Amino acid sequence: MSSGLGNRSPPLWPTGTRRGVPPMQGMSGASGGVHHGRMGQDDVIKGTDDDAIITPTSSIKKQIVSLGCGSDTRYFKFKAKGLSVHKYFEIDFQESTAKKAAVIKKNKAFTDIIDDPALKLGLGGTELYAQDYCLLSGDLREFTEHIVPKLKAQGFDTSLPTLFLSECVLIYIQPRDSDAIMDWVGANMAASLFVVYEQINPNDAFGAMMLRNLKARQIDLPGIHAYPSLRSQEERFLSRGWLAAKAVDMNTLHASLSDEEMKRISTLEIFDEVEEWQLLAQHYCVAWAYRVKAQQDPDQAKLVTLLSNAVSEK
Ligand SMILES: C[S@@+](CC[C@H](N)C(=O)[O-])C[C@H]1O[C@@H](n2cnc3c(N)ncnc32)[C@H](O)[C@@H]1O
Repeated sequence: MSSGLGNRSPPLWPTGTRRGVPPMQGMSGASGGVHHGRMGQDDVIKGTDDDAIITPTSSIKKQIVSLGCGSDTRYFKFKAKGLSVHKYFEIDFQESTAKKAAVIKKNKAFTDIIDDPALKLGLGGTELYAQDYCLLSGDLREFTEHIVPKLKAQGFDTSLPTLFLSECVLIYIQPRDSDAIMDWVGANMAASLFVVYEQINPNDAFGAMMLRNLKARQIDLPGIHAYPSLRSQEERFLSRGWLAAKAVDMNTLHASLSDEEMKRISTLEIFDEVEEWQLLAQHYCVAWAYRVKAQQDPDQAKLVTLLSNAVSEK
């Protein structure tokens, strides 16, 4: 039995190609786990069908912050589909954002989607700024001191409803640092939805093997023992004052996908055995939670309904 986390690397988000969004050439793609999780995260993000948090029809201005974005192309896929956000921020280490910024800047498929003549590189080519898209460099372990001021300098607005995304990122940093990000978001944002996708269940046989295989590739997951189960992933939010939290493993999320989405995934299948996939899927979870401050106006009340639906409906 293999861990499913070996060297197999599926294409980065194949639907992107279908929708005219190319992969980030020259950047390493997401691992199988990340790839499958993104399908689950998108399902969570969609929330309700008609007036989801990120639909063109929703009148509410909103932001997205992708923590540790890597080579993810979700902004481009969203926009290619006609969805819009007030601003989409991506953050990663400088080495990673420099490569991503260069790929985007020289690729017409990306710059056409950004569709902003004022698009410009910054900080020696490690950052990109456009009207609704911003790629920032920095270390998430210095979120409050360094990342927040950078976000604010690019128009990040704490009064706007904001979706924070972390796909296989927070688990790479010490819990005190990832908790500090959640605490800052909870304390400072008027309304936020936080979605985390990461590994769980390190203590069973498969989990132990998964960690050994990662270790052999010099990858540590310092966060996995702090939040090793679905319950602890929910508690992580609830104990710090988030209003509702939900965590499910990827088997559960798969079961809730539409027939159309399941059909699409089956064409991408990267595992030989269903059992192998199910075992791996037990070791990946999506956890999400929302938090809002005082509800003063009708838009805010509508937003609260959307957010609570997004957490309670799954
Ligand atoms: C497994 S990759 C996931 C990338 C992306 N979220 C995706 O879904 O494809 C983890 C990413 O987190 C970034 N990362 C890890 N620790 C970080 C830190 N302390 N500050 C900024 N980025 C970090 C890495 O550089 C890498 O791009």
